[in-house]
Amino acid sequence: MNSKIVAGNWKMNCDRSEAARLAGEILDLLDAQDIPGVDVVLAPPYVHISEIAGLLEGRRGTFTGAQNCSMHQKGAYTGEISAQMLKSAGARYVILGHSERRRDFHENNGQLTQKLERAFEADLRPIFCCGESLDERDGGSHFDAVKTQLEPVAGLPAEFFSKLVIAYEPVWAIGTGRTATPDQAQEMHAFIRKHLSSDKDHAAGIPILYGGSCNDSNAAALFAQPDINGGLIGGASLKAGSFVQIARSFPS
Ligand code: 13P
Repeated sequence: MNSKIVAGNWKMNCDRSEAARLAGEILDLLDAQDIPGVDVVLAPPYVHISEIAGLLEGRRGTFTGAQNCSMHQKGAYTGEISAQMLKSAGARYVILGHSERRRDFHENNGQLTQKLERAFEADLRPIFCCGESLDERDGGSHFDAVKTQLEPVAGLPAEFFSKLVIAYEPVWAIGTGRTATPDQAQEMHAFIRKHLSSDKDHAAGIPILYGGSCNDSNAAALFAQPDINGGLIGGASLKAGSFVQIARSFPS
């Protein structure tokens, strides 16, 4: 388990053949030049997880992730997918609390607390997302907004902190082409680490990823910041060359 992580959130993109092709291209590029010390995570739509996990099987440093999981363990929840099912399909990571899910599916802190519990029970590594809106940033309440979103993780027992990953994704930077500056991102990452460390020593080592219009041109400046441990990549993760270049953008 590396503390540097680059994860591709494919969102609702790629049919079956496109997904297999994209993963294959990414693996070919990784084979051509290994990236030691970096975990690369591919998070396709649910239906492609077992196929992508099969392609990644036996490889070091590459993992399959899901984009969500149910807050329930099992039972009469039509259309839901449990953390345990994702684990059995080959997922090792699960993205939780993405702003698109908070905004479009009204996910709240109570539900996200349960999703975190389900993820840990299933031995999935959560990538827990937070990030303020443009109004919150402009109004100066961005730190408070992120702190509120982090309540589900701040309440976790300390032993889970070694498996937790945080992603800071300012909503105004997602899919807009407007990236947070390295200084803006670093300031928030340092705030998040300090906030989570206040009563838990383990928090010092939590990987905190940046997401929001991160691409192969701006990743190096972002990843050079001391509290930015990688990226959660949307649009650029759908282009194999850009995505692998981002994963190569850590300072040596
Ligand atoms: P973009 O990289 O497309 O801005 O998306 C970021 C994101 O939402 C990753 O989860």
